[in-house]
Amino acid sequence: MDILQAFSDYLDAAKTAIASASTLEEIEQVRIEYLGQKKGKARELQSLIGKASKEEKPVVGKRFNEVRTEVTALLETRRDALGSGATEVESDFDPTLPGIAPRLGNAHPITKTITHFRELMGRFGFQVVEGPEIEDERHNFDALNIPEDHPARDPLDNFYIATAQKTAGGPILLRSQTSTVQIRTMEQVKPPVRIVSLGRVYRPDTFDATHSCMFHQMEGLMVDKHVTMAQLKTLLSLFARSFLGPDVEIRFRPSFFPFTEPSVEVDMKWGGTWLEIGGAGMVDPNVFRAVGYDPEEVSGFAFGLGIERFCMKHFEVDDIRRFYENDVRFLQQF
Ligand code: DAH
Repeated sequence: MDILQAFSDYLDAAKTAIASASTLEEIEQVRIEYLGQKKGKARELQSLIGKASKEEKPVVGKRFNEVRTEVTALLETRRDALGSGATEVESDFDPTLPGIAPRLGNAHPITKTITHFRELMGRFGFQVVEGPEIEDERHNFDALNIPEDHPARDPLDNFYIATAQKTAGGPILLRSQTSTVQIRTMEQVKPPVRIVSLGRVYRPDTFDATHSCMFHQMEGLMVDKHVTMAQLKTLLSLFARSFLGPDVEIRFRPSFFPFTEPSVEVDMKWGGTWLEIGGAGMVDPNVFRAVGYDPEEVSGFAFGLGIERFCMKHFEVDDIRRFYENDVRFLQQF
């Protein structure tokens, strides 16, 4: 029967055209040509049905529907494949090859330690405050009860950046200790006080494995009605244990600082050796007077810890200079 033969020819031609379409535009052209409502080839074939005899008509009509359904399905499958990008044209992309891993940024080990310290001290109820790195003599020395002739003021031990002649309010310098923030805080708030301040300090030390002319300290200050040395010791022990593990021991050695009385140096036992981690003590009455607190009313403790010390021990870094050389091979280990 010629009509059925025409349907078969149509189906074969459509299959070839669909297989050779390689873009979405081409497959759309194939659709218009073979299935289009107005001038499509299927439309021409449909008109043949009317020419079939009465007996043939049901067979021809059924076959027409089958052929058209099959072409429609083939077309859709091909269109989906082209749309998903899985075409032969793009097949030079091999998803099984190893990719290029992007290099991710990373917080500096000192920054990580600072973040960790803040978080731990926050849990002990200490508020984090900031202070300036450029200071005047009142905050770096005078109010901290450091006498005029004290060696800590020596120009060779400090980075003075302007002399008294140049500024109205006296010399200014890069702060040599974060204890400045004790004064700035007490000038602004009434007791009780419970703060820590973490930041950079500057001293003209010669660079070696344990010295840098810029390093970081965490200053702590607690002032209230009955603050005691026992509380200071408890706090520092808990802090060290939280940071380094339950076995860390703390010891206090008698020492001297102008701003505390009594004063101690604090060591921490870690892996069998005692490591000095900073200074501490009970706030000197003269410091309270300098900020307008009444030493008969309140007492307080203060401490200053070297952040690099903890960081070096924690990350097993044996030379402080590594932190500031900006060597990516070193920094990306953390
Ligand atoms: N400011 C001292 C230093 O840099 C450390 C220090 C000692 C801080 C005793 C304190 C303290 O708050 O009470 O060496």
